[in-house]
Amino acid sequence: MKVTVVGAGAVGASCAEYIAIKNFASEVVLVDIKEGFAEGKAMDLMQTASLNGFDTKITGSTNDYSKTAGSDVAVITSGIPRKPGMTREELIGINAGIVKSVSENLIKESPNVIIIVVSNPMDTMTYLVHKATGLPKNRIIGMGGALDSARFKYRLSEALDCPASDVEGMVIGGHSDTGMVPLIEKAVRNSVPVSEFLSADRMAQVVEDTKVGGATLTKLLGTSAWYAPGAAVSELVRAIAQDAQKMFPCSAMLDGEYGLSDICIGVPCVLGKNGIEKIVEISLSDAEKAKLAESAEGVRNTNGDLSSVL
Ligand code: 2OP
Repeated sequence: MKVTVVGAGAVGASCAEYIAIKNFASEVVLVDIKEGFAEGKAMDLMQTASLNGFDTKITGSTNDYSKTAGSDVAVITSGIPRKPGMTREELIGINAGIVKSVSENLIKESPNVIIIVVSNPMDTMTYLVHKATGLPKNRIIGMGGALDSARFKYRLSEALDCPASDVEGMVIGGHSDTGMVPLIEKAVRNSVPVSEFLSADRMAQVVEDTKVGGATLTKLLGTSAWYAPGAAVSELVRAIAQDAQKMFPCSAMLDGEYGLSDICIGVPCVLGKNGIEKIVEISLSDAEKAKLAESAEGVRNTNGDLSSVL
């Protein structure tokens, strides 16, 4: 499998590293606009091959999309990350033009590509890629929910004082500090509802800590996080590479599912060789439905800012 990662910054390079270490792709091409940056990151990563035991070939390219030709999957991480105190939505003015141009360049060289969008505001950028490329909707995936769910599991494991591998939980809705919907009512510790272990107040705190997981790290780091975002993307790419038929919450273009249309927002999706194999409509409580509807309104508002780009 050939994977292109556009943006050799912290998130893109982490994504490339995790893909390589998991050793399911034959080739990863890192692309960046900064002269020599992608080439340097690729070379540095390749020098870990004998240490980390992977065979994946990582190369770098300074804005030469011909090197990406024939990619099976392309990950868009390019654009600016947020600074402390910023919302993801505030990045749209700069990132929309970048993401539009990148997606157009990608499909010129790889008409059959599956695109995974990471750049923020992610749900709106995913919607933009649909409009800019016209690719079949199963071949455009927004990565947010996989990351948010990992943070949800981290907070649950913290509250339960157990390994993250002992819990399961999913976050749907918009990838935003206010719009995320951690499905706390459905979260379990080894098949047992977490409500049997945690008080209502403690569960509410887990939900709130999850929602601001990205902002919490941006405050600590001075920029957006990169390890968990990179790892989350690598799991989506792996599911596609291995035709895994695994279910992840992904930002997908909806056409009536969950009562929503013409919007990209985080919902359960089965991923396989065709990208989104199926959007899964799970049963939601009235409270969960209301939160998803409210989240969708927030995403639509941000989509409205795309008029100057589309
Ligand atoms: C995050 O939440 C970058 O949006 C990404 O860390």
